[in-house]
Amino acid sequence: MFSKETYISRRAELKKAMGSGLLLFLGNDESAMNYEDNTYMFRQDSTFSYYFGLDYSGLAAVIDVDNDEEIIFGNELTIDDFVWMGTQPTVAEKSAIVGVAKSMALSSLESYLHAAINKGQKVHFLPPYRPEHKLKIAELLGIAPAAQKMYASVEFVKAVVNMRNHKTDEEIAEITKAVDISTRMHLTAYRMAKPGVHECEIAAAVEQVACECGGRLSFPTIATSHGHVLHNHGFVHTLKEGDIFLLDAGAETPLHYSGDLSSACPVSGKFTEQQEMIYNIHLDSFQAAVDTLKPGVPFKEAHLAAATKIVEGMKGLGMMKGDAREAAEIGAYALFFPCGLGHMMGLDVHDMENLGEQYVGYPEGVKKSTQFGFKSLRLARPLEKGFVFTVEPGIYFMPELIDKWHAEKQFADFINYDEVEKWKGFSGLRNELDYMITDKGAELMGTIKKPMTIAEVYEAMNK
Ligand code: GLY
Ligand code: MN
Repeated sequence: MFSKETYISRRAELKKAMGSGLLLFLGNDESAMNYEDNTYMFRQDSTFSYYFGLDYSGLAAVIDVDNDEEIIFGNELTIDDFVWMGTQPTVAEKSAIVGVAKSMALSSLESYLHAAINKGQKVHFLPPYRPEHKLKIAELLGIAPAAQKMYASVEFVKAVVNMRNHKTDEEIAEITKAVDISTRMHLTAYRMAKPGVHECEIAAAVEQVACECGGRLSFPTIATSHGHVLHNHGFVHTLKEGDIFLLDAGAETPLHYSGDLSSACPVSGKFTEQQEMIYNIHLDSFQAAVDTLKPGVPFKEAHLAAATKIVEGMKGLGMMKGDAREAAEIGAYALFFPCGLGHMMGLDVHDMENLGEQYVGYPEGVKKSTQFGFKSLRLARPLEKGFVFTVEPGIYFMPELIDKWHAEKQFADFINYDEVEKWKGFSGLRNELDYMITDKGAELMGTIKKPMTIAEVYEAMNK
């Protein structure tokens, strides 16, 4: 945990931003995996963590802005809990650790909220993402699960997003730790990616590094020789000569701050001529995106810069034609790059995705596109000091997508499908690094270098 002053000052800033009302925070509960006592690893809700720091299940909290009161609600543990889970501070002691003076039994939360509503106070809650929270909100506030997104407080969402989007120095230090552990995970994978090695062996080794360094995974690892499947969570293949191995993996620190990196390397130790050409186009697109990063520039510009470079590269290989910037702007590039360039990162690897990408990644008044490609752009807004995000352009040959677009003659003025067909079995590759925006520009996060150039990749594979 950070010091209690951090949480006190975060809550004070939130109260000021909201001005009035009663803010409800639901901490996460233990969640059963296949039977009641076999639970998923406990993960605290990130917004609860941000304002209350406590890493225990079964807590809720209220900030009564109207009466300047903060209360943590929780149940005292029983002797059975102590026997199976060890000793814990009392709810009052936990509250004191984070500077909250008042605590109450969880069973009193419902009557507390009803009393507030009867007094005319507005209860603000965030959109729930866990089924148990949906049930709790139904019980506490009488709003059916299907209607809860509609009744969630946009004002509360915007206030939280505005604070969490701007990382403080102590958060940057914590994210730096997460990125460094993530880099160590990737360095391990580069050394292991050889013919005959199973994807699951690398996934296991990568997770071991996260655990050894005191962290855990910030999201399920992608360790695959089928990198064209963007979120490929199966580890079923054995690496063979000619494959590109793709790792997308990151660590989360004990304070729950994330790192998120991707790497691609040739299993045989050397890229083929074709692979080298695609890898270098992707590196050019990476650099073009990074060159745009500075305060005030919309991240959508970085995305378009990367997309334009990919189109230029594909033109060089005969797969695309026409004006490269136009092909980027109208979305023809998405045949090869169907996802977004990056996303905010912090307490969540896709930071605050539960609160709504529209609020996190887009400026007021700009709606997220529904067009294929652009609809996956999670971050588009002008960059501001303190933003932390990923940059992860990739080039993918997804056979089903190529078949579909070819049959529909999509963007036929920009795509030479006969040439694309020849590359269908290529699979895909990406690199991903994490950046933060400073007063003047953008800074790469982490203190350890993750290989990017082909020479750096070969060196890392031979260590
Ligand atoms: N690292 C997985 C993702 O960004 O979606
Ligand atoms: Mn990512």
